[in-house]
Amino acid sequence: MIKLTPSLLAADLLNLGRDIDAMRSNGLDQLHFDVMDAHFVPNLSFGPDFCGAIHRRYPDMKLDVHLMMDNPEKYLDEFAQCGASSITLHAEIAEDMSGMIQKIHGLKVKAGLSVKPGTEADRLLPYLDQLDLILIMTVEPGFGGQKFMPEEVEKIRFLRRAGFRGDIAVDGGVDMENAPLLKEAGATLLVMGTSYFHAPDPAKVARFVEGLNA
Ligand code: DX5
Ligand code: ZN
Repeated sequence: MIKLTPSLLAADLLNLGRDIDAMRSNGLDQLHFDVMDAHFVPNLSFGPDFCGAIHRRYPDMKLDVHLMMDNPEKYLDEFAQCGASSITLHAEIAEDMSGMIQKIHGLKVKAGLSVKPGTEADRLLPYLDQLDLILIMTVEPGFGGQKFMPEEVEKIRFLRRAGFRGDIAVDGGVDMENAPLLKEAGATLLVMGTSYFHAPDPAKVARFVEGLNA
C-alpha cells in the first residue's frame, strides 16, 4: 500500500484550516511537518507550538515530523507532547542515533531516519531493526518546489533488498509522474508539497495515489 502525505510547507498558511479540511475530505489522514533550524538546512520553518496548535484542532490526524535540525535531542519530548505521530531525524547529524531512536519509542512515537542525496543509504543499515520509517530525500533538504532527483530511487530498492519492512517515505519533488516508479521501487509514503497543495485539483492527486493501490 502506498499513501500520500501532503507537506505543510506548501499549504496556504493563512488559510491552513481550509487546506487541511480539504485534504481530509480527500481521504488523507496525515500531514508532513518540516522543522528547519537554519543550521542543518539554510531555511527556518515551523516549531513545536505550531505543531501543537494543528494537533489540538485535528487530534486524529497523524503528524509526520521531519526534523531537519542539528541537536534535535532536546526537542523530542516537546514534539511528542505536541502530537507528533512520527519523528524523523537525519542520519547526517553526529549524535547517538540509537539512543535517540530509543527515546522516541519511549515517547510512544514512531521513529524515522532520513538521508540527504549526498549520504549513502548504507549509513542506515545499523538501525534497520529499530526504525519504523526511513525517509529518502530526493532533493537537497531546505526548500519546497525543487526538481526530483531520480538517481536517489535506487536507495529505496537497496533498503528493500536489505530486508527493511517498515515504511519508506520519499520527500522532494514527488509528483504524479514519478509516483508509479516510487511505488514500484518499494516506497509506501509519498510526501508531496507543491504537487499536492499547488495542484489545480488536489483531489485528483489524492485519487491518483489511491489508484496506485488498485
Ligand atoms: C524539503 C522538505 C519537503 C518539502 C517538499 O526540504 O523536507 O518536505 O515540503 O516539497 P516539494 O514536494 O514541493 O518538493
Ligand atoms: Zn520534509
